[in-house]
This record gives sequence, structure tokens and C-alpha cells, in this order.
Amino acid sequence: MSRAAAATTRERISINADWKFSRFTSNPDSLSYDKLKAWVLPCANDFIKGTKRQRPSGTPPGNDVNYVKSTFDDSSWESLTLPHDWAVKGPFNAPGIGGGMGRLPSNGVGWYRQKLNIPSSDIDSGRTLFLDIDGAYSYAAVWLNGNLVGGWPYGYNSFRLDLTPYAKSGDNTLAIRVDNALESSRWYPGAGIYRNVWLVKVDPVHVGQYGTYITTPIVSSSSATVNLVVEVENDKNTSQKVDVVTEIYVLDTGSGKAKGSVVATFPTKSVTVASGAKGSASASVEVSNPQLWGPPPKQTPNMYLAVTSVKSSDGTVVDVYETRFGIRSIEYNANKGFMVNGQAVRVNGVCNHHDLGSLGAAFNTRAAERQLQMLQEMGSNALRTSHNPPAPEMLELADRMGTMVLDEIFDCWRAGKRSSDFHLIFNDWHEPDLRSFVRRDRNHPSVIAWSVGNELSEQSSAEGGSIFKELQSIAKDEDPTRGSTVAMNSAGPNTDLAAAVDIEGLNYQDGAYGSFHSKFPNKMIWGSETSSCLSTRGTYLFPVTKSNSETVGGANNGGDGTNLQVSAYELYPPSWGSSPDRVFSAQDHSSFVAGEFVWTGFDYIGEPTPYDSARSSYFGIIDLAGFKKDRFYIYQAHWRPDFPMAHILPHWTWPDRVGQVTPVHVFSSATEAELFVNGKSAGRIKKGQYEYRFRWDSVVYQPGDLKVVTYKNGAEWATDTKRTAGDASKLNMTSDTTSISGDKLAFITVAVTDKDGVVSPRASNAITFSVTGPGFLVSTDNGNPADFTVFPSKTRKAFSGLALGIVRANAGASGTITVTASASGLSGASVTLNVG
Ligand code: GAL
Repeated sequence: MSRAAAATTRERISINADWKFSRFTSNPDSLSYDKLKAWVLPCANDFIKGTKRQRPSGTPPGNDVNYVKSTFDDSSWESLTLPHDWAVKGPFNAPGIGGGMGRLPSNGVGWYRQKLNIPSSDIDSGRTLFLDIDGAYSYAAVWLNGNLVGGWPYGYNSFRLDLTPYAKSGDNTLAIRVDNALESSRWYPGAGIYRNVWLVKVDPVHVGQYGTYITTPIVSSSSATVNLVVEVENDKNTSQKVDVVTEIYVLDTGSGKAKGSVVATFPTKSVTVASGAKGSASASVEVSNPQLWGPPPKQTPNMYLAVTSVKSSDGTVVDVYETRFGIRSIEYNANKGFMVNGQAVRVNGVCNHHDLGSLGAAFNTRAAERQLQMLQEMGSNALRTSHNPPAPEMLELADRMGTMVLDEIFDCWRAGKRSSDFHLIFNDWHEPDLRSFVRRDRNHPSVIAWSVGNELSEQSSAEGGSIFKELQSIAKDEDPTRGSTVAMNSAGPNTDLAAAVDIEGLNYQDGAYGSFHSKFPNKMIWGSETSSCLSTRGTYLFPVTKSNSETVGGANNGGDGTNLQVSAYELYPPSWGSSPDRVFSAQDHSSFVAGEFVWTGFDYIGEPTPYDSARSSYFGIIDLAGFKKDRFYIYQAHWRPDFPMAHILPHWTWPDRVGQVTPVHVFSSATEAELFVNGKSAGRIKKGQYEYRFRWDSVVYQPGDLKVVTYKNGAEWATDTKRTAGDASKLNMTSDTTSISGDKLAFITVAVTDKDGVVSPRASNAITFSVTGPGFLVSTDNGNPADFTVFPSKTRKAFSGLALGIVRANAGASGTITVTASASGLSGASVTLNVG
């Protein structure tokens, strides 16, 4: 009953298509946040506990700007589909944007315009119309039909505006302005409306924004108590009495739909809601034999769907609202670590920034899923959303895949890190941003804790403790079921902050685990940020340090400042970091530590430490194109000890190193290994305690092959081979999928190989992609942090033998796409993709 009613009661319509856009490097309209502020502040009222903010009377600023008017001719503006990141197409070396922010033109004012058709039936029936923006960077302000509706400054948060007072039947002119300062971030922020945008149409009596809250306070394998709060909003001018009915189904995570029949029904609750007000209904139900949510491989991420119907007094269903949730318990245990459903689960996490490589900040579900899949293959079970709220779909993926999320909101508080970052608006916005963030994300079982800040300037002062306590109390008020933490890189155990946090989150402070543990014997500790190891895929520099971790430096210390590359022996962090080996050792010496979040899972645009003149980071375990660095395998070896694998580095094609010492390292989940160089044993060795790689540091290079045979518990475990490649002769192309449609992309890898298919590990041939059929090439990349070819370029030089092309189907198309790659002097390759 209730699901069928949904279509007529509530509609959530994507309005990503058919936008017009223009970017201005200097302010085209003399508007600014200062001028708009008084009208924007009241948009936060749903997320403020104290005195509400009043919208000023009088004509709002900007109502006279041409871009907001229906008469403005935008035919010369760019046509596009959201999500959109205006900066990612380049060019690099944008004036005023340094390496930290990725050298791409993210600054300036962007205007987006759309004709929004609203049928007269919506207006006549008095429906309430909301605009939901999942993320727009930044200082978004919205006009409908020449009237300022409102806005939201923090570019990473999702927000809702009520369009109803300004809407009319027929064509409406929707205009959105975003405004980005030069120095707004420490990393590449992206620019514009980079997430999904929705038009939500509801009956005036409806479930509010993020209007359900589901918790599971008592969980066992035989039974679970599920508590529900539903908030109903009444936009009618008379008070309304409604019944709230909620049924629980098993969620089919593949389709996102309910599966089978009703599992449990909450008792019906009646609530009377005054005109213009909100009212809430609470209920509780037992679910027997619950299918619990938990991270693989030991647990399964089962999900449920709660379908809430709001019935008016005459029995009409006026709203149907769906909430996905999971049944699980969590505990932060000071000695056993993080517990899910009573079982300790070591946190094998990574930190990631929000960009998706050559797609920039423009969110794409398949691109995010590809990231999580690769991380799971590595054995990672957790993600820290450094340092800002993720796209909502990222959490849906995490729920479905069983990835635990440390959901983080801020990189700074009152004291900024850049001249125009969040500190400028912290006082006005920390409460509404934090409340809306927690309210948005609190039904996701994947979210295991709230991180309310990263490496704050205030961390060691009394102010740090007091700001944290205020943020913690806001988060607890919205969600008492999870703890709040921060990522501390310098605050010691004697700070107010360390005393206040629910989880001790330590960035790089591996040496302080013991002192935190003795000071706080009842608090869980984790490495909220670890390692920061640096490397470029496929680049090996000699000599190789004998140490298991060495600060990156000049030629002898893993760095090549001329070509802006760092050696992939995976031993070279910056001064504050450590190789993976050293972090593993520190953690294994302190068994009470719950785990770590490695900086970072994927390379990201910006922050190209140690070479600021490059474009993208060296920190990733996986490069910017999504190609695995060698480091992937040291994590896989450690995090998936039962998975038979072995991985040799470096590659074995060194015409210029014949007769020279060329160390060979192997990452493997085995305990013993023997290396063969052209069939001759270079020695069988055992991994010692607190050692995480096999190394043969005196191997002398001769062309041919390397083979490693590994052993565990006395039996052969896994092998790997590396062969010297002959001359580059052809291209090899593989796609991650055989069919695409809508926004589902194909990620296509091209390798330069010799005639036998051995990848030429140093090939840098220029590869040209072409697409025929109903689709197009979105972008290309190769993972080289020093490649300044723009991302949309059809020609991309291979880097260490590989290049990536990303292909998308035309909207609504069907048929077959052929993607071809060609390179001068090499035979080409192609793949076909089905569309639809
Ligand atoms: C940390 C910081 C991260 C990133 C990292 C690089 O201190 O939290 O955002 O800058 O250093 O190593």
C-alpha cells in the first residue's frame, strides 16, 4: 500500500540536466557574502537551537542583477549537466592558485541558470516545493524568478531551500551563484555545483528534511530494539492531526528497494502539528532474528528499509518517506579496539579527499564505488572523509559495501589555515553545519564516529578544549549513539582536548600511543591519520635506503626534484610521516590501538608534497588515475593475511643498470620467501617480527626474469614473476565494464606492451583515445603528478606504461560504443561497450 502511494505523495526529481553556466574571474555583479549574509543566515534556522534568525524585510540584494531575471539571454553560456566542476577542465597554472590547491582555476564567481517547469497542478494543490543541493562550492545563493530564496556558505554541506513562496506555474527561472576565493582550501576544492541537485515536491503536511532518526539501542542475534523518531512539518494554515505509520522491510541493497514482506511495524502514533510548525512522533519495535550490519569479511552489511506513511485525519496518505538503516551495535573499547556487534574489528582505514581524479570534484557514484572496491580488495574496511562531509551517495555505497566511515566535517575552527577558509564563518555556521551534517548522516550504519576537526590550530590550548566540548554537545544532541573525536597531530595527553574527546584520534603520533593509553585507560585510541608515505607509481630511484623508513630528500633519499618524482620503494615519507612498515610496527607494539586511517588511499589533486610545482599528491596508495602503486600490496599483505599473494618490486627492465645493484623487495602475506634471478636463488628468507617486507638488497641487475616463491606454515603460498620487457610494440586495452548508461562510466586502461604482452614499465608514448557511437571521452590521466596536460585531453602520454580514459554514454542513448587507442609506431587497441 504505502510504497504504491509514494509516487503521488512525494516526488524527488533530479534537476541535474539542462543548466546554463558562466564563470567570471572578476566579480560581475558586485554581490558578496557580506551583502547577502543577512538573508542567508536564516536558512540555517532548522539547525539552530537558540534564537532563530529573522529574514530582513525589504528587497534582498541581487534581485536586480540581470542573471537572476527571466529576460536575461543566456544562450551564449555553456550548456551542461550537473554534477559539474568548472575548474577540472583546466588549464593548469591558473593565476593565483598554487600547488596546494592543484593549480586549477577554482576561484571566481560562477552563475548557473535553469528553466524549471512546475505544472500548475503543483501550484493549485498547494504542494510544498524544496530545492535540495547536495553540495555547491561555495557560498551558494539561490534566486527563483528574480527573488533571493537564500543560500548556504560551507561548500561541502548539503542544504535545502523552500522555493514555494516564489514558485509559479509554468517556467520558473532558477539562478544560483557560487563564489570562490583564491585561498579557500589546503587541497583542491573543486568549483561550482559539484554534487546532485533535486526538486522535492510534497504535500504541505510531510516528513521534514532528514526527518527520521532510527537507532538500535539493544542488539543481539535473536532480537533488536529499533527506535524511531519521525518529524512532521505542517505548512498548512491550520493545525493538522496525522497518524504516522512505519513498516520495516529488508532492503535489497542492489536495487535499493524493499524485499519481501513487512518484517515489523511500529505502533501507529498520532501527532497534532500546529500551522507552520513541526511535531514529532516516537515509536519502538522489536525485530526478531535481525540480519545485522557489519563490515566484511567476517560480517555482512545487511540493510533494512523503513517506510513511513503520514495519514491525514480522513485516512488519506499524504506522504511516504523511506529511510535506509542497519541494525548493529558499536563500542569503542580501550583495550580490544573497535567493536561491531560484540566482535573486535581492526580498523584498516584510509583517508581520502573528495576529488575523483581527472573527474575533479564532480561527484560520480561509479567513480566512488570503484574507489571503495579497490580499497576493499586491498583489505581496507574504513574510510575517513578528510576533511569535509562526503556526498550522500558515498555513505550509501559505504552502507551497502560494509565500509566503516569516520565522518569528518571541519579542517579548521576559529583559527584558519588559509586566509579564506571556514574560520571566516565559524562563529555563525559551526552549529548549523554540524547539526545538519549529523542529522543528514546519522541513519547510516556505516558511520562509526563523528570527527569534528582535523589538526586544529587550537588543539593544545584551553580554547581547543572548549570549542570541542561545544561541538561534541551539538553532535550528541543530534545523535547520542556515536562518539565525537578530532584528529590531533600535536595535542598531547595533558590537553583539555585529549581529555574531552570520546576517541583519542592521533595523527602521526605513533610514539605517543603508550602515554595516551596510560593517561586514558578507558578510551579507545586510533591512528586517525598515519604514514603519509610518498611515491610515484613505477618510479624507482637508486641507491635504496637500508632503513625501513627514511625522510624523502634528494637523489639518495628517494626524491627526484628535477622530474618531480618520488621513488616507489615505498620507504620515503615527509619529515612527519613514516613508511607503512614503520606504522605497522608501531601499531603492533601497541595492541590496544584500534587501527589506522592511512594518508591517503588515493592520490588527490593538490598538495603535491614534496614538489609544490607539481599538480597532484604523492601520498596515495593508489595513484590519481586509479592505478595501484606497489604500496597497495604491502597493505594487502598486512590487512589480508589469509589471502595468498606476493608482489615483486621494482619492474625488471633496466637497460641502463646492467651489472648494477638493484634491490628487490617483495610484499606478501607469507612468512618466508625465496627469490630467483634468472632461475638462480638469491636466498630464502624469513620475515622477522615487526618486519613487513622481504628484501634482497644486493641483487645485481641482468635482463631476464625475477620470480619469488613464498611459503606460509611450511607450504607454498603464492608466487610472482617480473620479466624484462622487449621493445614497445602494441597497446593493450581493458575496460572495467562491458556496459554503461546514465552516469555509469567506463574506466578504460591502456597499457604499452612488448610483442608478448609484457608491459613496458617506462613507456611514455602519447596515446590518443577516440570514441565512436553514442558516447564520449570525459577525461584522461596517467597518475603522473607532474603531467600538466589538461584532463579532458584526448591524447595522454603513458606514464610508467599506463594511461586511463574515462568514457560516458550520451544521455538516454542506446547502442554500441567503440573506444580506440592509438599511438605512433605501436599497433592500436579497442574495446566495445553496450549502452543502455
Ligand atoms: C596532515 C593533514 C592532511 C595532509 C597531510 C599530509 O597533517 O591533516 O590534511 O595535509 O598532513 O601529510
